[in-house]
Parts: sequence; C-alpha cells; structure tokens
Amino acid sequence: MNGLGYAIGRQTLGVLAHREPMTFTLLGREWEKHAGVFGGQDIMEPTGYLTSWLPLGEARTFLEMGCGTGVTAVMAALNGCPSVTAVDVNPAAARNAEANARRHGVADRVRTLRSDLFEALGPDERFDLIYWNSPFIEAPPGRNDSYEEFALFDPGYSMHRAFLRDAPGHLTGTGRLFLGFSAAAGNRELLDELGREAGFQTGVHRQVAFDVPHEQVGAAPEFAAHADEKGMLHLDITLLEFRR
Ligand SMILES: C[S@@+](CC[C@H](N)C(=O)[O-])C[C@H]1O[C@@H](n2cnc3c(N)ncnc32)[C@H](O)[C@@H]1O
Repeated sequence: MNGLGYAIGRQTLGVLAHREPMTFTLLGREWEKHAGVFGGQDIMEPTGYLTSWLPLGEARTFLEMGCGTGVTAVMAALNGCPSVTAVDVNPAAARNAEANARRHGVADRVRTLRSDLFEALGPDERFDLIYWNSPFIEAPPGRNDSYEEFALFDPGYSMHRAFLRDAPGHLTGTGRLFLGFSAAAGNRELLDELGREAGFQTGVHRQVAFDVPHEQVGAAPEFAAHADEKGMLHLDITLLEFRR
C-alpha cells in the first residue's frame, strides 16, 4: 500500500464528507456539484487536466466509468461524441451528471446510469473509449462503507482488478482504455500487474507533476514524512493508457 496516498485519501475524505452543494467553473463552463459527489474541485483538481488530455474527439461511443459530477461525459458530448454513457456506483453522482448534461444542452446524447462498474450495461455494449478517473488509492482489503469512500479508495484494488478484467469485453475492436491516476498516491506496480493479467500493457499518456508544501496538504505525520529536504511533496496527475 502507498502510505502517502492513503493519508491523502483520509484527508480528502474529511473534506468531501462535509461538502455542501455548490457550483464551480471548469474548462470555461459552470457545473453543479451535489452533496457527497466528487469531481471538478477536489484535491489536486485532476478532472480538468484529465478531461482535456483524453482523445474525446475520436470516439463515436464513450463510456465514463465513475462519472462523479459528469464533467468529462458532458465535455465528450460537447466535443461531438454522439453517444455518451456516464455511470457511477453513487446514485447521487448519476443524478448530478444528468443535471450537468441538461444544464449544457446535451441530455439527448448523455445517458446516465447508477451502476457498480459494468453491471447495469448490456453484455454486448461496446465503446470506442472507456475512461475512469478511478479511486486509485489502495486501502486495506475489506469494503467501502460510504459513497465518499468509493470516490477515493479501492480496498485491495479489487475494483481495479474487476474493471480491467471486464473492460476488454466492452471495447470495440479499436477501442481505447484510459485511467486517471497519480503515481504519488496510487499503486502503479499492482495496476501494471492487473493490467497484464487482463492482456494490457500500461503506459503514461500524459502527466503533470508539481511540488506542494507538505503543510498545505494537511497535518498528518505522513505528509511531513514523505516530503523532501525542503518540505515539499512531489505530486502528479497522470493519465494511463492500457493498450492491448
Ligand atoms: C475520483 S472520482 C472521479 C469523479 C469524476 N469522474 C471526475 O473525474 O471528477 C471516482 C468516481 O468513481 C466512482 N466509483 C467508485 N467505485 C465505483 C464502482 N464500483 N462503479 C462505478 N463507479 C464507481 C465514485 O463514486 C466516484 O464518483
């Protein structure tokens, strides 16, 4: 397990659990964020980077796994993708993505569903692009107790294992598979292994790295312990591609 990642997750959980509904601006548009839903305004703010790095213009069919507020799904539709499916295990997130699709006039092209991974999809549904800004923080084996935990943690990486195992069955012949990730906070070694088991080679598609003073991240002792001699934590936002 990644001790820094787990500490960042615990810190973020406290913030998420007490967040009121709000609106925020990202990628030049205003978005709704409902209580307890992740996306757009969270630690390291990955959603905007990851969305702008994805080859959204190439896909005729796009599946956003774990859509949260639905920013990426809605941006795919606004970029011309005629058929977008946005799913989330958290029913509030599926409703939130639907509200944002309506707000930006693409509800006719964005289908929103409550789904645990691919569960609510037909077995033959295939997509040109599948993407998940996943809860890449590995937690001890067990189960998540709240939807806020689902936004951040994957106990034993069991959801990543199932996602990578089942994704090939939902990709078109030339379909592409991406995960939003952080090398500083996730378990890349285990992810590569799970990818290999599912027939994928994992590579970095895009990455941005930045240094943050450890006190700015939080007061947990892990933050100081992982900082460099200048007290800085080296963090990153990474988009991984899984190639067959
Ligand atoms: C890091 S958040 C990303 C949210 C949004 N896509 C974004 O980029 O801002 C991870 C999302 O995955 C969802 N999630 C976690 N486990 C899931 C599962 N088993 N099936 C579907 N969605 C899941 C969470 O509820 C959460 O909305």
